[in-house]
Amino acid sequence: MWTGSPAPHLQLRVVLENLMDKLSVLGTPAPTLDMTDEELESEIKRLKKERNAVILAHYYQESEIQDIADFVGDSLQLSQAAAKTPADVIAFCGVHFMAETAKILNPNKIVVIPDMKAGCSLADGCPAPAFEHWLAQYPGHTVVSYINCSAEVKALSDVICTSSNAVKIVKALGDQKIVFAPDRHLGAFVKKQADRPDLVLWEGTCIVHETFSERRLLLLMAQYPEAEVIAHPECHEGILRHAAFIASTSGLIERARTSPKQQFIVATEAGILHKMAQAAPGKLLVPAPPEDESCSCNECPFMRMNTLAKLYLALRDLAPQVDVPEPVRVRALQPIQRMLDMSV
Ligand code: 13P
Ligand code: SF4
Repeated sequence: MWTGSPAPHLQLRVVLENLMDKLSVLGTPAPTLDMTDEELESEIKRLKKERNAVILAHYYQESEIQDIADFVGDSLQLSQAAAKTPADVIAFCGVHFMAETAKILNPNKIVVIPDMKAGCSLADGCPAPAFEHWLAQYPGHTVVSYINCSAEVKALSDVICTSSNAVKIVKALGDQKIVFAPDRHLGAFVKKQADRPDLVLWEGTCIVHETFSERRLLLLMAQYPEAEVIAHPECHEGILRHAAFIASTSGLIERARTSPKQQFIVATEAGILHKMAQAAPGKLLVPAPPEDESCSCNECPFMRMNTLAKLYLALRDLAPQVDVPEPVRVRALQPIQRMLDMSV
């Protein structure tokens, strides 16, 4: 029997799905370039050399962007790659908070992002002034913030985490009192895994992982009884309770590669299927469904604002550039560096 979300929650999903459809057309308008994909790719390669640039891409990017990138990874791996790149220019194919993190780590490098409007519902749902006001209720707490937040929120935090190290970092903090922001689903997962029911959570969510449907997942599980459900911890409990394995994007790809299972139901953004299929050739990868069959809500509208044409223009014009005011950068660097030091 389906024990899914109550009606108000479903109504919220419909609102979110409509919002996502709208958001996908709100990116910077696609430039009209009289170039084929092959021409764009060869120009991107030429400009990359000329600029001494590195292209970093997240697993949720369009496959053609992943294919031309120098490095594709999850949020932690991308921060680590940004921290050690010798390039002069970083072309960051991901969302704004990721490019901003690269800039915080590399104040003297140029960081460009194909579409400046590529935001994130978690980062946008946690504005720094409101966050600072909320934190005032919890004096003496250590502030652990998920990397999906703005530089200003990072600057108010003690340590940053990603989905691949959140449990480890909270455990390493011993019995310190902790507030965790901004993802309440990742926070709930960390509470359980680190045995910290007292964790105080900010109530943010990811609009993509929020829309997966437990009702439709159960139907899919009945259709593929041999499949293992693997899920990102940004998913809500209605999905996570059915998952045999929960991890970051790189963890999920590794699981599909190494598990003896031949079929997987994959509950995260659909862009991951490109690298997962390469890592686990011949295995059946079934994307977990959103409630509304007609929407492509398992694609992040922000991540998909980046295109090959916009990447070409970003390298050609060295714009748009991501910048962080120096006082904010200096304060935000400390919790990021702490995370990197705790992740070796
Ligand atoms: P990871 O790739 O770190 O698992 O993060 C997923 C995500 O939602 C990035 O925005
Ligand atoms: Fe943000 Fe969700 Fe998109 Fe990741 S998938 S960038 S968490 S909106």
